[in-house]
Amino acid sequence: MTKNQKLLAWVDDMVRLCKPDKVHWCDGSEEEFNELANELVEKGTFRKLNESKRPNSYYAISDPSDVARVEDRTFICSARKEDAGPTNNWMDPNEMKSILTGLFDGCMKGRTMYVVPFSMGPLGSSISYIGVELSDSAYVACNMKIMTRMGKDVLKVLGDDGDFVPCLHSVGMPLNEGVTDVAWPCNKTKYIVHFPEERSIWSYGSGYGGNALLGKKCFALRIASVMARDEGWLAEHMLIVGVTNPEGKKRYIAAAFPSACGKTNLAMLTPTLPGWKVETVGDDIAWMKFGADGRLYAVNPEYGFFGVAPGTSMKTNANAMLSMTKNTIYTNVALTEDGDVWWEGMTDTKPENLTDWKGRAWTPQSPEPAAHPNSRFTAPAGQCPVIDPRWEDPTGVPIDAIMFGGRRSSVVPLVAEAFDWNHGTFMGATVSSEMTAAAAGTVGVVRRDPFAMLPFCGYNMGDYFNHWIQVGKDHADAKLPKIFYVNWFRKDKNGKFIWPGFGDNIRVIKWIFERLEDADNYTESPKGKLPKPGAIDISGLDLTEERMAELFEVHAEEGIAEMQSIRDYFATFEGHVPAELYQTAEKIEELYKQPV
Ligand code: OXD
Ligand code: MN
Repeated sequence: MTKNQKLLAWVDDMVRLCKPDKVHWCDGSEEEFNELANELVEKGTFRKLNESKRPNSYYAISDPSDVARVEDRTFICSARKEDAGPTNNWMDPNEMKSILTGLFDGCMKGRTMYVVPFSMGPLGSSISYIGVELSDSAYVACNMKIMTRMGKDVLKVLGDDGDFVPCLHSVGMPLNEGVTDVAWPCNKTKYIVHFPEERSIWSYGSGYGGNALLGKKCFALRIASVMARDEGWLAEHMLIVGVTNPEGKKRYIAAAFPSACGKTNLAMLTPTLPGWKVETVGDDIAWMKFGADGRLYAVNPEYGFFGVAPGTSMKTNANAMLSMTKNTIYTNVALTEDGDVWWEGMTDTKPENLTDWKGRAWTPQSPEPAAHPNSRFTAPAGQCPVIDPRWEDPTGVPIDAIMFGGRRSSVVPLVAEAFDWNHGTFMGATVSSEMTAAAAGTVGVVRRDPFAMLPFCGYNMGDYFNHWIQVGKDHADAKLPKIFYVNWFRKDKNGKFIWPGFGDNIRVIKWIFERLEDADNYTESPKGKLPKPGAIDISGLDLTEERMAELFEVHAEEGIAEMQSIRDYFATFEGHVPAELYQTAEKIEELYKQPV
């Protein structure tokens, strides 16, 4: 198994605290996955899907109260409150430890503790790190097998004295005397807690997604962002794609978008321009370190996709659909009569009879959706038809461009290139999206989601901006990626989207690609470098140059008002936002004030 003293001692301590009936060290084999899946079928947590339709695939429905990440129960327990910053929940680490120790005491009674060693990133890569999750959920162990490189090979890489991030997880439902188990155990008390100085994670009460699969948001973003700050690299909420032009030249791009901006679709984009190819390295998270040649190299720390099902179809994202034809776990989607899955948006016509995500009979006349809006598929990334040939390359892929994007119906142009790294950091720090159909009254309200990291930054967001500025200073003589801001969502005066989006976004990527070759295809503007009129390839589209111009229109008053709103936003970080970002806001404001 392992002779790693830190690991053995920690498992011993946690067994003593949590008091499971059994301890199972996961080896990560197919046989083990099948055994655990069979046990879950017997327990009623899993249902095996029709083997001829979805080979080796399973269906689970959660407790109706345990369906999404719980941001209000997520804590960054740094020693100082100021280090968690105004965008995170904080509690004193000693106080939190004493609450958690109470909750975890005996929390695994009657259950098995699974010891899940996992590598975030290709095994043994210098960009990768190891974690070990202790969980009392076989559902979690099965999902971790798809989402991470998991099992005995990880213990080999860990060796006798290697370090790892300890991740403790319990659904919080001990099988004490008189308690009968349920298909989806959980607890209404939930804590998702990060100790950044200790680099450890404690998660209690939920079995769902990012609350329970601790390699993803908890480790690869919140804890890793702290490690990246301390060690001079970048842990980002970004997809990674390889783009090849018709001449065969390939470039890698990383991109951050808040939710509901088409991130997964961009990660697996099917280009509408002939001869262009997009291949997927990752759909959610990028870890990036500088190589000896001074370039920035990225790996996808994950091994699978944990994607939102509703809205995914052969029309919107065929590559995602094809990634999940087998070896997939579905959670909270609907079940068809012939033992397959369905969700809103999958087909044009709705099936006549389904079982909905609450286990009830469903017809198209039913008042509620058949699948939960946050229902998910857990699918191996290697099954993606356009997975990049270098997605497992331990050296990572060299990043030439970074894109930020949001959903704004005005003010923000279709695409702009940053003047320099600091301006690019400014773009990331000011990512904003208009709320879609969230709570009543919030439609159209602008929410800032800097770097799309608002719920995922493990320290003070102002200090995180400063880390980006610092990376630019430390690597000023290196080949830093160029930075771009895109907005697919501009609307005209009649409220209609101007840009077609989806596969046509390759046209914007083509312009970016040409910028990387230093083409003379831009004009200067207060917003950054914008495409020259005619520089975006709209061949075959029903779009006039006048209509294109609307996509870039920014009135000086709007631009100046946006800078004021950004300064007000920066002020909420109470002195932690670096001077360079204020200076950038001033510079942009001055440019707007200059006569044209
Ligand atoms: C995700 C998210 O699930 O960003 O990836 O919320
Ligand atoms: Mn995400």
